[in-house]
Amino acid sequence: MIEFEGVSKTYPDGTTAIEQLDLVVPSGSLTVFVGPSGCGKTTSMRMINRMVEPTTGRILVDGEDIAAVPTVRLRQSMGYVLQGAGLFPHRTALDNAATTLRLTGMSRAEAREKARDALRLVRLRPELDDRFPSQLSGGQQQRVGVARALAADPPVLLMDEPFSAVDPVVRAELQAELLHLRKTLSQTIVFVTHDIDEALLLGDRIAVFGPGGTVHQYAKPQTILERPADSFVAQMVGRDRGFRSLGFQTDDLPVHPLGERDAQGAVTAHSSEGHSAEGPWRLLLDEEGGPVAWLRGESRIPAGEGHVAGAGLRSALDAVLASPADAAVVVDEGRAVGWLDRNAVLRALSVPEDRS
Ligand SMILES: Nc1ncnc2c1ncn2[C@@H]1O[C@H](COP(=O)(O)OP(=O)(O)OP(=O)(O)O)[C@@H](O)[C@H]1O
Ligand SMILES: [Mg+2]
Repeated sequence: MIEFEGVSKTYPDGTTAIEQLDLVVPSGSLTVFVGPSGCGKTTSMRMINRMVEPTTGRILVDGEDIAAVPTVRLRQSMGYVLQGAGLFPHRTALDNAATTLRLTGMSRAEAREKARDALRLVRLRPELDDRFPSQLSGGQQQRVGVARALAADPPVLLMDEPFSAVDPVVRAELQAELLHLRKTLSQTIVFVTHDIDEALLLGDRIAVFGPGGTVHQYAKPQTILERPADSFVAQMVGRDRGFRSLGFQTDDLPVHPLGERDAQGAVTAHSSEGHSAEGPWRLLLDEEGGPVAWLRGESRIPAGEGHVAGAGLRSALDAVLASPADAAVVVDEGRAVGWLDRNAVLRALSVPEDRS
C-alpha cells in the first residue's frame, strides 16, 4: 500500500507541481494517474521512489515513511519504466533487461537468466535478445523496458507513460499484454498516462489530475464515467462516456446453442428464419470453430471477433450492432460457443440500472 499524506511539491524555482495530495494506492492494484501535461503526474510518481522529495507531507509504503528508507533499498523494491523505454543504447536487449539485477550485485550469468525469463514474460521473441535498442521497433523497446523493471520482481512497479511513444496498434497490444500479465503478477502498479481511454482500460482506480497539481477525482473507472466529480473530469472522459460505461455493466444475457454444421461448415446462430427470400444468415466457422463470416445467398460479411460471454454490455451491444443477423456470436478463447439475441441485448439496455 502506498499512501500520500498531505503531499505538496514546490520546485526551487517556485513552480508548485503538486498541492496537498492525499491518496492511497491499495496493494496489488493498478492505479492510474491521468491528466493533461504539466499537472504533476510524473512529480507524484517520482516522489514514490524519492527521485523527487516532497516539500511538505509524507509518503508511506506498507506503513513505513519512505523518508527514513535508504534510497538504494527503496529503489530496489520498485521497478521503474520510463517514457520511451529509456534503454542503454550500447547494451543488448538482454543486457538492458539484466541491468537492475546487476545493480543488486547478482552475477552476470544469473542476472541474464532471470532477464531472459522477464523478456519471455513480456513476449519478446528470443531471437531479439542480442539486438541493440536501435535495431528494435518502438514497441519491442517498450517490452524490454517493462522486462527490465519486472526482472527483479519488485513489489512496486512505477510506469510513466510507458506506451505513449508507439503507434495505436502496438499500444493496444502492449495494453492487452499488461492486462494479461496482471493475472500472473501481484505487483502494486502506478501507471501514468495522458490518455483517459488507456486509464479506463487498465486502471482499477484512477486519479484525475488537473492544472495546479490537484486531484479532482480518485475513483474506480466506472464511477469516473458514471459520476464525474466536476466539469473538468466530465470533459476529460468525453462525450460518449454513457456508452463507455456500459463496458462496466456485466451481462448475464442468455447464450443460445449453435445449430449443426452444414456441408459448408456453417451453423445457424439465431432464431429467426430470416426476413429475406435468400433465407436466414448462416455463420461460417473455421476448423477450430472460430467465427469466420456470416453467409446468406451471395453475401459474405466477416464475422469479427464476437462477444466474450460476460465481457459487459458494451461488448454485447457492439457485437449485435456489427452483425448482419439478429444475433451476435459468443466466443470463448476464439471459438464460437453460442449466440446472443439482438433484442435481448437491447432489452438489457433499457432496464434501469440500480446504481445505489
Ligand atoms: N525539476 C523541475 N524544476 C522545476 N519545475 C519542474 C521540474 N520538474 C517538473 N517541473 C514542473 O512541475 C510541473 C509538473 O510537472 P510534471 O512533470 O510532474 O507534470 P506531468 O503531469 O508529468 O506532465 P507531462 O504529462 O507533460 O509529463 C510542471 O509545471 C513542470 O514544468
Ligand atoms: Mg510526466
